[in-house]
Amino acid sequence: MYKNIRTTVVGSINADMLFHAQRVPECGENLLGTHYSSANGGKGANQAIALSRLGAHTKMIGKVADDENGRRLIENLKKNNVDTSGVYSDGTQTGLAAIIIDGEGRNRIIVYEGANAELTSEDAVSKIDSDTDILLVQFEIPQQTVIDSVKKAVDNKIMSVIDCGPAKAFETEKMQGATVITPNESETYALTGIYPENKDNILKASEILKSRSLAQFVVLKLGANGCSVFDGKELTLLSPYPARVLDTTAAGDSFTAAMALEFYRTGDILKACDMGNKAGSIAVSRVGAQSSMPTAEELLKLK
Ligand code: RIB
Repeated sequence: MYKNIRTTVVGSINADMLFHAQRVPECGENLLGTHYSSANGGKGANQAIALSRLGAHTKMIGKVADDENGRRLIENLKKNNVDTSGVYSDGTQTGLAAIIIDGEGRNRIIVYEGANAELTSEDAVSKIDSDTDILLVQFEIPQQTVIDSVKKAVDNKIMSVIDCGPAKAFETEKMQGATVITPNESETYALTGIYPENKDNILKASEILKSRSLAQFVVLKLGANGCSVFDGKELTLLSPYPARVLDTTAAGDSFTAAMALEFYRTGDILKACDMGNKAGSIAVSRVGAQSSMPTAEELLKLK
């Protein structure tokens, strides 16, 4: 379904440490967890693997260090058929994420950016091929690198998707003209000061993001409430697919990748977001980041 689509991701690559516990510890509390595991992560790498697993040709642009984690993460990208010719391994330390997953599958994440913070605009822009069909970026790399990558996409008429994770204040007005800008609830709050918890707030936040970024579409990922789509005139709310939630890590990454590919394929943003919702519902029903990404066949089966 997405086989001939060429995609490029400019973003982070992290080693994830996952701690499972019934609940998160209080301040000063030492809590026993139930189990732990390590995984390959980073919002950029997660999205690259999601795109590749859905069948697209995918190039990853990012930075790790020449250390054990960095080497393993590059190998893992290759194993998932991601083109790693845009991955630099001269960073000081590979990015690391500590993830706590509570008994309800909700996560709390602390990221040490490491090499991700050293990915310069020049590093990224020089590796974006002008014949790529889609560019995906997130906010886990320096702001200027995101701005210049989006600019290259816009200048070259490449469809571009800005995933606004993790939550932080970012100058969205400096990355104008992308195809889609897509924050989740906490990222929407960080960018607009509005928490999107009802239709009025969703519309207000979407209008702000639209006027600042001049993106064609504002898509808010609303977790258990599905997502919203704003095209500058109309706001549409899309319901999620039911899922037994085990781990929400990377559900947003999975949504963004599926939504981007379906939009490129059909030009229909509502169909695209519905596909994103399907991908998110599969991702939350599995543990881990990259290991939870669905295939195109799995998406098609979900009704
Ligand atoms: O979106 C999930 C990702 O956020 C994790 O894989 C972690 O590395 C952080 O970047």
